[in-house]
Amino acid sequence: MDRTTLRSYRPGDWQAMYALDLICFAPVFQFNRGAMRSFAETPGAVTLLTESEGKLAGFCIAQLEDRTGYVVTLDVAPEWRRRGLARRLMAAVESKLHAAGAMETQLHVFTGNSAAIHFYESIGYERVGMAENFYAQNMHALIYRKKFDA
Ligand SMILES: CC(C)(COP(=O)(O)OP(=O)(O)OC[C@H]1O[C@@H](n2cnc3c(N)ncnc32)[C@H](O)[C@@H]1OP(=O)(O)O)[C@@H](O)C(=O)NCCC(=O)NCCS
Repeated sequence: MDRTTLRSYRPGDWQAMYALDLICFAPVFQFNRGAMRSFAETPGAVTLLTESEGKLAGFCIAQLEDRTGYVVTLDVAPEWRRRGLARRLMAAVESKLHAAGAMETQLHVFTGNSAAIHFYESIGYERVGMAENFYAQNMHALIYRKKFDA
């Protein structure tokens, strides 16, 4: 990956994140403005962004509950895909979660999202279950987990 920078969330970033989320996801998966801001700004949230020349290229929001990190969303702009941005974002998010006390990270991914499934498996996530009707009727989620080394 080149010509991109990685940084933590700053107030107001949620607006560009919301706009990118509309591009990255079909309506059933999209966050509304309030949800995006709330997830990004929840105390303790790990919210990281990648930018190129001041323009948002990707972001990830994660939360820590007890000793488990949870990936709320991961979005990379179409023109920036397959250049290692998501891999870099996830590595940084996992590092922060681990430093904050997480022993593992979990996430849900739509059963039909083969790109994301390939991606998560490529960075060491293991499928540990399925949540039926998680997104909507007949739209199930796979549950993935990655345990951290002690
Ligand atoms: C899934 C997503 C985040 C991947 O982002 P990315 O920056 O393109 O991923 P990376 O470039 O870091 O990919 C790392 C590896 O993941 C795998 N991978 C990524 N996208 C893939 C795809 N479309 N098909 C197959 N494997 C893929 C590959 O092994 C890739 O390594 P390679 O390019 O050397 O082959 C991106 O496609 C995206 O934003 N999709 C829409 C939103 C989404 O589905 N988010 C996840 C929701 S749970």
